[in-house]
Amino acid sequence: MARDADTGEGQRMKGAEGSTALVTGASYGIGADIARALAARGHHLVLVARSAEPLDRLAATLEAAHGIRARPLPADLTTTAGLERAAAAARDADILVNNAGAGLGMSFERTTWAEERRMLDLNVVAPSRLLHAALPGMLRRGHGRILNVSSVAATGPVWQGTSYGASKAYGVALTESLAYSRRIRTSPVALTALVLGHTTSEFHERAGIPPSPPSLTLASPYVAELAVRAIHRRRPPVVCVPSLRYKLVAGLLRHLPHRLLALPHLADDFTVTSYGADRPCSGQPASVGGDGEDGILPAEAHGQGQCQS
Ligand SMILES: NC(=O)c1ccc[n+]([C@@H]2O[C@H](COP(=O)([O-])OP(=O)(O)OC[C@H]3O[C@@H](n4cnc5c(N)ncnc54)[C@H](OP(=O)(O)O)[C@@H]3O)[C@@H](O)[C@H]2O)c1
Repeated sequence: MARDADTGEGQRMKGAEGSTALVTGASYGIGADIARALAARGHHLVLVARSAEPLDRLAATLEAAHGIRARPLPADLTTTAGLERAAAAARDADILVNNAGAGLGMSFERTTWAEERRMLDLNVVAPSRLLHAALPGMLRRGHGRILNVSSVAATGPVWQGTSYGASKAYGVALTESLAYSRRIRTSPVALTALVLGHTTSEFHERAGIPPSPPSLTLASPYVAELAVRAIHRRRPPVVCVPSLRYKLVAGLLRHLPHRLLALPHLADDFTVTSYGADRPCSGQPASVGGDGEDGILPAEAHGQGQCQS
């Protein structure tokens, strides 16, 4: 079914019944756009998120538009039952997109442990579990693609005082650890970490934090198309950073001394900004925040970028 003519793998992932992609966080935002881009290439879909209605709507739209099968799978990935339902579906997936994720818009000492635990369950445990479920089948069948959605906050302490960046760094580290292993390197299975800067989604609005500045914001459909194109390459990049601007940001963050981030205006510091300032340490439930990379670097315009390993 996959009809990506520019790659051999696109053809190899076909199969008589068509290949199936499982996308988490597909009810809206970047995950929904990734699902659209995969459907446009003819992949069948399993769409995972908590909200059943938007999943049903998206599944019906994509089935009608692309003649694929799309199965909504409502599940809360922070619960054992929800995660295991998704893991059962991931076993048969040819493509796994670990996209669902969230942050806490508040400094570490002000969040409750329940909030931290939920974020770690969603950003760390769930993608690991789904990857663990999907990988053996992919290796056995001789094809497979895994896309782990991460953030530039994974490349340095840009959202200072919170654990969000650390949780996203885990996804990049796991991707690299597996992708460079002999077992995976010598197999037709490939893993890619998608390292995103500010991207249009419902993240900021739902979190009740100000939207990111337009000049620093990438369009979600653009990011999704780039990522889906990247995983259809014969040799997908291990790390994919959409846009030249964020490639530069991620490169600088990875290689420059992190003490430079202590300079004023270079990074958001949730221990000194107003986020959560009215809340006592380890107090009441926090609002869920988005990426807080505003102002890492000045940016002139939306960059066009390709993903390189
Ligand atoms: N937007 C940005 O600027 C940005 C930047 C860097 C990285 N990222 C990363 O990109 C990914 C997607 O974020 P987004 O911007 O598209 O955010 P979003 O608009 O808030 O979408 C998040 C998605 O995850 C789902 N989700 C949340 N909690 C869940 C749970 N417990 N179980 C199952 N699904 C859950 C949501 O659906 P339900 O609410 O229906 O469950 C939704 O589909 C995340 O991993 C995020 O860390 C985003």
